[in-house]
Amino acid sequence: MRTRDHDRLTAKLAEAYTQHSPRCAAINERAARHLIDGGSHALRLIKPFPPRMASAQGAYITDEDGHRILDFWQGHFANILGHNPECVTSVLAAAFEDGFGLQTGFEDRLQVEAAEILCRQTGNERVRFTTSGTLATMSSIMLSLAFTGREMVMKAGAGWHGGHPWGLKGVGFRTNVDDGFQYVDTEGLPPAFTDKVIVTHFNDPDRLRTDFRQHGDQLACFIVEPFIGAGGCMPATREYLHAARQLTHDYGAVLVLDEVIAGFRFRAGDVGSLYGVTPDLATFGKTIGGGMPVAAVAGREQIMKLVGRDGGGKVKFSGGTYSGHPASMLAAKTFMEYLVAHEDDIYPRLSALGEKARRTAEAAFREEGIYVRCPSYTDDVLPGSSLSLVAFPYEEGRELRSPEDVRNPALCDVVLAEQALQLGLLINDVYTMHGLGAVSYAHTEEDIDRLGEAYHQVARLFKQYL
Ligand SMILES: Cc1ncc(COP(=O)(O)O)c(C=O)c1O
Repeated sequence: MRTRDHDRLTAKLAEAYTQHSPRCAAINERAARHLIDGGSHALRLIKPFPPRMASAQGAYITDEDGHRILDFWQGHFANILGHNPECVTSVLAAAFEDGFGLQTGFEDRLQVEAAEILCRQTGNERVRFTTSGTLATMSSIMLSLAFTGREMVMKAGAGWHGGHPWGLKGVGFRTNVDDGFQYVDTEGLPPAFTDKVIVTHFNDPDRLRTDFRQHGDQLACFIVEPFIGAGGCMPATREYLHAARQLTHDYGAVLVLDEVIAGFRFRAGDVGSLYGVTPDLATFGKTIGGGMPVAAVAGREQIMKLVGRDGGGKVKFSGGTYSGHPASMLAAKTFMEYLVAHEDDIYPRLSALGEKARRTAEAAFREEGIYVRCPSYTDDVLPGSSLSLVAFPYEEGRELRSPEDVRNPALCDVVLAEQALQLGLLINDVYTMHGLGAVSYAHTEEDIDRLGEAYHQVARLFKQYL
C-alpha cells in the first residue's frame, strides 16, 4: 500500500488555521467542555476545529472571526438554491408573524399539498413524512422485511443511508480485508442484525448478479443510491440500475432507491425515472425540506399500506413528535413548488456550474503538477452533476469508476483529499466537503474562479510536502 507522510503538512495547516481563526478556536475550546468532540455531527467536526458559523446567505457563510467563506457544503448538500433562500424565508417569516408554525401535534393542509407535489413529481402512490433521511431509510427497510417476510438486506459498499442498525455495515473502507467495505462501522450492534446485511459493489452488475444468485431468495430488499454520495459522488450506470430492478423483481425482493441526495437535485423530482427504473420504495430528504428537517418514504400503495390501518398497522412507522411539523411542511411545500416552477432555469445552471467546478479543480491541480480526478462522470442518463469530490490517485491517468477505487488508500491519497485539502481551502476561506462538494444556484462563475484560485494556492503548498 502506498502512503505518504502527511504529519508535517497537516501540522503546518493546523497552525496556520489556528492563527487564521482565533475566535473560532476559542469557541471550540469552550465547546469541547460539554459537547463530545465539540459538536453534534462527526462530519462537521474537522481537525483541529471547525469554523463556528454566525450567519449565511446564498453561497457564503460568515464565521465568528468574520471571514466570508465560500461554501460548497451547502447544508449537507440540501441547499440547492444556497443558504436561506428568500422564497422560503419570506414565507416562513410571514407565517410566524401570523401565529403559524410551532403548533406541532395536529395535521394540516400543508402536509397534503406537500404530499401531492412529492407524489406527482416522483411518480409514487403513497408517502409518509418523517424528520430525517436516516429514519426514512430505516422505515423503508422495515417495510421491506414486513412485506416480503424475509430478513436479509443488501446494500452497496460505501452507500450511506444513515446511522441505523442496517446502515452501519459497509460504510468505511478497510485495507486489511479482501473486500474493503465488508465491515461493521460501529460497536454496539448485535451480529444478529449485521449478519443479515449483505454488502455488494456499486456499479458492478456482475458482482450484483453473483450476490443475488447467492442470497437473492432470502433478500427483503436491495437499497441503493442512484447517485452515490459518500462513495464517490458518482452516478449509477444505466446497466447497473436496470440490473438492480430486474434482479429484485426476479428474486421477489423490494428495490429501494435512496434518493435522499439525488431527489430534486438533478430535476424537480426523482432520478429513478430518468433511468426508466421504477423502484418499489424510494426515500427522500435533504433538498425536499427547503432547509428544514423533512424526509419521506414513498412508494407502491401495496407496500406503504403496511404502516396504515388498511394494512393492519403491521409496520410501526408511526411518526415522531416533529413528523409533518407545520413550519417544515410549509418550507417543503414552498420549496418543491418553487423548484417545479423554475425547473428549466435551475437545473441547467446547476449542471453547468457543477461541470465548471469539476474542470476547475482538475485543471488547477494539473497546472501545479498534481494529478486529481473528480469522478462525477455523468453519462447519458443524468445531466451534469452539481456534486463532486476530488480524489488524488497515486497513478497518473487512473480513472475512478467505483467507491472501491476512490476510497482505497492504496490507490488514492485519502488523507490529502479528506483532511489536508479541506483545511488548506478553509485557510483560503473556502469550505468544501470531500475536496469539493455541491454548487448551488446561488453560486456564480466568479465563485468557481475563486475556488480555482484557492485550489492553486493549496496545490502550491502541497507540492512542498509531497
Ligand atoms: C443517501 C443518503 N441517505 C440517507 C441519509 C441520511 O439522512 P439524514 O442525515 O437526514 O438522516 C443521507 C445523509 O447524508 C444520505 O446521503
